[in-house]
Amino acid sequence: MHLFPFIPLFVFTLLILRFSLVLGQQSYIGLGTVACPLKGNKNSMRGYTCNGANRSCQAYLTFRTQPIYNSVTKISTLLSSDPFEIAKINSVSINDTFEVNKFVIVPVNCSCAGEYYQTNTSYVFHNAETYFLIANNTFEGLTTCQALQSQNRNPADVYPGRRIAVPLRCSCPTMNQTEKGIRYLLSYLVKWSESVSLISEKFGVNFMTTLEANSLSLTKATIYPFTTLLVPLHDKPSNSQTLMPAQSTPPPSSPPKQSSSKTWVYVVVVGVIALISVLVAVIYFACHAKTKKKDDLVILSSKSFGATEKGNDPNENLSKIISGIAQSFHVYSFEELQHATDGFSPSCWIKGSVYRGVINDDFAAIKKTGGDVSKEIEILSKINHSNVIRLSGACFHEGHWYLVYEYASNGALSEWIYFNNVDGKFLSWTQRMQIALDVATGLDYLHRFTSPPHIHKDVKSSNILLDTGFRAKVANLSLARSVEGEEDQFPATRHIVGTRGYMAPEYLENGLVSTKLDVYAFGVLILEMLTGKEVASILTEDNTDLSNVLSGILGEENCYEKLKEFMDPYLLPNYPSELATFVVEMIHSCIKKDPASRPNVHEIVSFLSRTLDSSLSWERSVNI
Ligand SMILES: *[C@@H]1O[C@H](CO)[C@@H](O)[C@H](O)[C@H]1NC(C)=O
Ligand SMILES: *[C@@H]1O[C@H](CO)[C@@H](O)[C@H](O)[C@H]1NC(C)=O
Ligand SMILES: *[C@@H]1O[C@H](CO)[C@@H](O)[C@H](O)[C@H]1NC(C)=O
Ligand SMILES: *[C@@H]1O[C@H](CO)[C@@H](O)[C@H](O)[C@H]1NC(C)=O
Ligand SMILES: *[C@@H]1O[C@H](CO)[C@@H](O)[C@H](O)[C@H]1NC(C)=O
Ligand SMILES: *[C@@H]1O[C@H](CO)[C@@H](O)[C@H](O)[C@H]1NC(C)=O
Repeated sequence: MHLFPFIPLFVFTLLILRFSLVLGQQSYIGLGTVACPLKGNKNSMRGYTCNGANRSCQAYLTFRTQPIYNSVTKISTLLSSDPFEIAKINSVSINDTFEVNKFVIVPVNCSCAGEYYQTNTSYVFHNAETYFLIANNTFEGLTTCQALQSQNRNPADVYPGRRIAVPLRCSCPTMNQTEKGIRYLLSYLVKWSESVSLISEKFGVNFMTTLEANSLSLTKATIYPFTTLLVPLHDKPSNSQTLMPAQSTPPPSSPPKQSSSKTWVYVVVVGVIALISVLVAVIYFACHAKTKKKDDLVILSSKSFGATEKGNDPNENLSKIISGIAQSFHVYSFEELQHATDGFSPSCWIKGSVYRGVINDDFAAIKKTGGDVSKEIEILSKINHSNVIRLSGACFHEGHWYLVYEYASNGALSEWIYFNNVDGKFLSWTQRMQIALDVATGLDYLHRFTSPPHIHKDVKSSNILLDTGFRAKVANLSLARSVEGEEDQFPATRHIVGTRGYMAPEYLENGLVSTKLDVYAFGVLILEMLTGKEVASILTEDNTDLSNVLSGILGEENCYEKLKEFMDPYLLPNYPSELATFVVEMIHSCIKKDPASRPNVHEIVSFLSRTLDSSLSWERSVNI
């Protein structure tokens, strides 16, 4: 009873303590894990800073069991933790196997190694693994590819059987935390649709304290799956915390009255949000599972005609082309096409010499051309990929070719991305990333899976078409060439074709042709998609080099602010600035002057698919 008068004082002190600590103890990694090839240590990408009261301490990791890491022994080997300790803290026997996807608490000794806290383990590369796969999929985010690359000598030297050092993300309490009674930090692996408040509640710790421990705040509390969140603990964690379903039980320790009502409102709101996120995720995956199937590469058994026809005179080839079409595609009669397009009426006109027609109750795009179509037909006859426009048939009539393509109902990308376009059409950040990934996937297919490999040579926004669901298809392969195309080996005999602004310097200067030409143009295309501007207007009078414009932004200490001025105004304020910087860094590497130092499209595909994943989880977290 005599304690009663002190309670308000106690609460007051707590509040003061809480709000005085604006500075966080460690910074949350955010979307940093996506940017695998990029170095640097923004947001503790390489580890938590060595700023604690002690240089080493007892710390805890969490791990979700996987089919091959499912027992006490296997997990203790993977994470170099003591098996007896794992067994004890999870209340199991040392010989036990866990069910798959169970959360396991793993005690480790955490200590400073140079600048960062870490606990050391090691790992042997298997076939076809990358630093990203090891960091994200095997270690589930307990380490990052940046940390792996910085702590292993010759990181690029990757071969099966190589053993690499793996620093795991742990941390020790700072002075400020120790003063508040925090004795341990647990590196919690965030799952889909978990929030800081749900995780805090699970461990019975104060929500604000957790935010602070990770330099997060009420307005900036977004966290992402496959990252670590530090949970500040007063006592050792126990296995009941890994079992407890997040929403069902109130926190064991009762926080002071005043704030608890606020916390509870938050918990309820966040609970509802989490529930909705789960629903959205379920719906998304249900739909996505279907669309994913379509993306798988399907290479038709070669129905195509004489694969290496290289004649240049269209008339000489005519009969071969027509017989080729008969095998691969439908040969339309001119009457059929007239019927389909209402006699090529203006109401069916799309643009240029392209008309919309209705064939077998389906829309089709019909392009009339007087040029040599043999190359395009030859390539398209060998291709069946959802990110490359499909040719369904052709017709030859009075010296003109009519090519019949699948119809992309949302038209060309160029109608959607430029800020000043009159219709006010615009695409969200995630849609743009999906389109970028689709285009890269289509190009990757041309570069690697056609035989012989092909180069598009005219990648630009008007040659990318969008279907009903805003999935992109690479179109207009009329300039495409096979890598072995002999004419390109002799620059002098060939004239420069392509679109200004999109053409790589080595092609303009020396006529050199390689797949890196498409990489350059792709970089320019993505730059236009981010800025909403055509490449010509991105360059200013005093800065006529794209690469310099980008270095100017990326070099800034606070590049996020600088980037904001650069971005498509339609995207503001709603875009993930951190991811956007990574994308700009990718663009920067695509438009390097030296073709050899540009990434290949395959690398771009894997970077963009991670970016898209993170964009989706970012979108889920901000939209609701
Ligand atoms: C600890 O708290 C003090 C103020 O209470 C603050 O100035 C200091 O930056 C904090 N330290 C850390 C590491 O956050
Ligand atoms: C730091 O080390 C001292 C001495 O080993 C120990 O008494 C103290 O509990 C440690 N503090 C923390 C936060 O681990
Ligand atoms: C952690 O440190 C303690 C005490 O120094 C030691 O007994 C234990 O074996 C260490 N655990 C591991 C996994 O190295
Ligand atoms: C675990 O297995 C070993 C050998 O299979 C056995 O000797 C040991 O008693 C077992 N331990 C427990 C706790 O079951
Ligand atoms: C962990 O490894 C780093 C270098 O990889 C080393 O500096 C550090 O001393 C190691 N820590 C322990 C506890 O062995
Ligand atoms: C990271 O790993 C998880 C678990 O294996 C996987 O579901 C997720 O897609 C991976 N993230 C990326 C960006 O590949």
